[in-house]
Amino acid sequence: MTETINQTPTRTRTNDARLRQRARAVIPGGMYGHMSANALPPEYPQFYQRSEGSHVWDVDGNEYVDFMCSFGPIILGHKHPKVEAAAAAQRADGDTQAGPAAAMVDAAELLVDRVAHADWAMFGKNGTDATTTCLTIARAATGRAKVLAAAGAYHGSAPWCTIRMDGVTPDDRANLAYYTFNDIASVHRALEEAGGEAAAIIVSPFRHDAGFDEELVDPRFARELRALCDRTGTALVLDEVRAGFRLNDGGSWEPLGVAPDLSAWSKAIGNGYPIAAILGSAAFSDAASRIFVTGSFWFQAVPMAAAVATITAIREEDAVAAMQRTGTMLCDGIERQAAEGGVRISLTGPPAMPNLRFPDDADLAKGKTFCGTVAEHGVIIHPRHNWFLSAAHSDRDIERALEATSAGFQAVRARFGED
Ligand SMILES: Cc1ncc(COP(=O)(O)O)c(C=O)c1O
Repeated sequence: MTETINQTPTRTRTNDARLRQRARAVIPGGMYGHMSANALPPEYPQFYQRSEGSHVWDVDGNEYVDFMCSFGPIILGHKHPKVEAAAAAQRADGDTQAGPAAAMVDAAELLVDRVAHADWAMFGKNGTDATTTCLTIARAATGRAKVLAAAGAYHGSAPWCTIRMDGVTPDDRANLAYYTFNDIASVHRALEEAGGEAAAIIVSPFRHDAGFDEELVDPRFARELRALCDRTGTALVLDEVRAGFRLNDGGSWEPLGVAPDLSAWSKAIGNGYPIAAILGSAAFSDAASRIFVTGSFWFQAVPMAAAVATITAIREEDAVAAMQRTGTMLCDGIERQAAEGGVRISLTGPPAMPNLRFPDDADLAKGKTFCGTVAEHGVIIHPRHNWFLSAAHSDRDIERALEATSAGFQAVRARFGED
């Protein structure tokens, strides 16, 4: 792997610009979804050529230390040797076949072993498959329609949960009631609004809404949610899609002693291979076996083999501790730089998934100046979304990141002055 990171802003983006131009002609909006660089500063590439470990290279050959990890899927580093070997071995045998491979049972057994509340597993492709299927199972189990979700929380891009209302009908949202994360009184109110018809309460392990400070869960809130679900016969659904395996080698609320009934997983469980999992307790197994969910590629064997290798390596490599350590180094360094530079920041969330905001920055002008400069110095972070550490980040990567963020703070101070 090349160890050179451009120290001076000399990056060219001509191949990227050409691809963007071609894309605008054949891809709506030029790009869509969470990977669109349209709203990012101009220093960000849209298109990447390759990736390895903690590094990515754009289509112009510029190298970056990657703190977005493909928005979460990469937890062990890009192209982790054990995951790639397991995927290659399975691919040599077959992938999308006449039926699933043994790897499906291996993956289900491993997840049931690792995640305390789980007695069974089902698989899909994306996080939206997993969250939506959890709610379908909860409805099948309870015979009720309504679902309580935290206002502003992201659970996927299906009509019931997408963040834009274009193309969404009121009917798509008719069975939702909203509460405020960490506010149990608001859950009581939403339950009343649901009038005894609540099939599920869906919640993420901590509040990680894009554009806002992150907020860790109040353990009392988690316990009260569990008690409330038990009292009212409502399913507690934990959306682990983003946080799963980054906070804990198992369910994210296990350290709190709170077990959900159903949990939705994707992103990190396959280290980049397309797989999602729905995990549940025995009480929901019958309902899970009655619903009909499937997809042409839901039974692919390669991602299942990759998931087995990934989840095994997360434990073998003590990945959670590694991300905690390097994430803490990164966050401590950024806090120090901001204090020394007289720039006010709000750096929140767990060290493995930190989020940086500049207060009074509604138009993201400061955030974009900061992140654009950081990208120009060879480090990918994000002005609105939380970042992701992987177990592949080295101390040297953190040093490089801090060199880049130092330049970022200088750029913010030069443009906006000291706070
Ligand atoms: C918490 C959470 N739930 C669900 C999803 C949806 O996952 P996907 O984009 O794979 O459908 C995401 C994606 O970012 C997520 O962060």
